[in-house]
Amino acid sequence: MSKIFISCALPYANGPCHLGHLRSTYLPADIYARYNRMINNDVLLVCATDEHGTPIAVNADKENKKPIEISKRYHDMIVRDIESCDISLDSFTRTSDEAHYKIAQDFFLDLYNKDLIYKKNIQQLYCEECSKFLPDRYVEGTCSFCGADARGDHCEACGRHLEPTELDNPKCLNCSNTPVIKDTYQYFFALSKFQKDIEEYISSNNNLPANVKNYAGNWLKDGLDDWILTRNMDWGVPVPLDEAKGKVIYVWGEAFLGYISSASQWSKKSNEKWEDYWNDYAIHFIGKDIIYHHSIFWPALLKGYGCKLPDNIFAGEFLSLEGEKMSTSKNWVIWINDFIKDFDSDLLRYYLTINAPLNKDTDFSWDDFGRRVNDELADVLGNFLHRTFTFTSKYFESKIPDYTNPSKEDKEFEIAMDKVPSKVGDLISDFKFREALIEIFKIAKKGNKYFNDQEPWKAVKEDPEKAANCIYLSNQLSKILAICLKPYIPNKADEIAKIMNLKTSNEWKDASVLLATGHEISKPKPLFKKIDEEIIEKEKEKLYENLKSDNMSELISIDEFGKVDIRIGQIKEAEKIKKSDKLLKLQVDIGEKVIQVVAGIAQNYEIDELISKKVAVIVNLEPAKLFGTESQGMILATDDSVALLSPDECKIGERIK
Ligand code: 2FM
Ligand code: ZN
Repeated sequence: MSKIFISCALPYANGPCHLGHLRSTYLPADIYARYNRMINNDVLLVCATDEHGTPIAVNADKENKKPIEISKRYHDMIVRDIESCDISLDSFTRTSDEAHYKIAQDFFLDLYNKDLIYKKNIQQLYCEECSKFLPDRYVEGTCSFCGADARGDHCEACGRHLEPTELDNPKCLNCSNTPVIKDTYQYFFALSKFQKDIEEYISSNNNLPANVKNYAGNWLKDGLDDWILTRNMDWGVPVPLDEAKGKVIYVWGEAFLGYISSASQWSKKSNEKWEDYWNDYAIHFIGKDIIYHHSIFWPALLKGYGCKLPDNIFAGEFLSLEGEKMSTSKNWVIWINDFIKDFDSDLLRYYLTINAPLNKDTDFSWDDFGRRVNDELADVLGNFLHRTFTFTSKYFESKIPDYTNPSKEDKEFEIAMDKVPSKVGDLISDFKFREALIEIFKIAKKGNKYFNDQEPWKAVKEDPEKAANCIYLSNQLSKILAICLKPYIPNKADEIAKIMNLKTSNEWKDASVLLATGHEISKPKPLFKKIDEEIIEKEKEKLYENLKSDNMSELISIDEFGKVDIRIGQIKEAEKIKKSDKLLKLQVDIGEKVIQVVAGIAQNYEIDELISKKVAVIVNLEPAKLFGTESQGMILATDDSVALLSPDECKIGERIK
């Protein structure tokens, strides 16, 4: 038995969890943890909320609350979200815990005493109005690299990490005044000293997946710079030096210690040493946006401290939503809590795993979700299990029948299913969670075919031995499914085990223990219901309705920022978009061509009324999909709502200045 330390990236306590968090981090970590427990490895799965940083402090200012009130609110929501998806954490704590402060400060001091953290005079932005330095998000302006609006720590448009001094036209977020540049000092971590160590760590560690190696390799090529490790603000872990009043450790300089502080709080309760787990095998599950932090910065901090480096880092790629990048500010997102109100969490766990391998970006689409639940969970898995169980109860008094004189087909099927547990297990061990799930579904499909071919409903009268063999083997497969599905859909797996009266289904090896002839199963009940198309359509509508309407245009990117091309167009055809009350698909003549535009005006006009109507339409948009229908433009106004569009005066194709 080995011990395994597994961590999930710490979610920021400034919002609840959405499907992206689940897909990239918590779900893969949980599948891996559950499987390892089932093969009798001793697992410690930890996480915590990441409660510091400027966004939480800024939100607190906006709401006139203390940062801890904000982070507590979201900590509670995150606990609810994680629990509702059955993420089997052994410890979930907070970086605002006293234990965390102590560990983070001791860590800082250790590096400081080794001269790996040093003091340096620098210039930073200072707001004279508010009498404070403006770290990170306390300042907004334009990105000096690409000219887009940006925050003091990051430019969303070009993806760069920024220092506040790299903003043009900076403004204090609190009072909108222009800050001045003022001398101050901060503490820096000597990351550059670790160039060789990290190169060696990345190149010699064969566990690390390709995406982690590639990203890390690219940063290493450019050479590592020292990292600013402190901020002038109140909210955070205070720098543990008397001279450094008013300074806190930068959130990325202490959040990692959340893995350790969470584990050490668990140790206190369990009287077991978390270090034993870390030293045996430590793996971090993260999203791909924080590969740099985990593959370079954190290993360097650990190396400086003198601690064993993590054995593996598994980075899940991004999840988009209906083909568009998720955006919490635009509410283009599905919150776990909303999802769970309408659907079983196992359906989500299934979908997010089967949808794509974790090392590829993927998309959540309601249509695809509905299709997979219906065609795969209900029609393949649910159907196989249900017919097996109903047949067992109807024709064999709910008891596993004898298996005698197996036919060639029986033997082939038996051989195929016997291989499944080890194949699936090996794939999970190798982090190929989707491939393993595909194997499970392949055998369930095979089970359905075998069942059809054996025709037990006929055989039960004509050839009872054939029917009995079919039901015997189908039950054996059902048991294998109950066990192999457990890391993925734990509740459904337990329901299968319950119907089958399985005494032991918690260990992987149970999958290979045959059910005895005469073993009695309970009354069957359907395990997977199909989802009506109407329900899926309602979910889609909700999504589009919740999209903050004033941000609608931001979803669609204008090809040349700032130059909006508005033309007079004329509607040629209009058609309702299925099951949406508001949206119409329009064909609009803009002079040189006819473009397709999706517009939310169905409640204002009859279809007939719209034909020939003149409209003002933005024509230089990147095509975007709305409700699954491509839109190549955006209607701004119709001729009777805006005086300037008086029908006789404007010509089709004319440009509005
Ligand atoms: O990117 C994030 O969401 C961070 N809160 C992750 C921190 S993980 C680690 F450092 F603790
Ligand atoms: Zn100010």
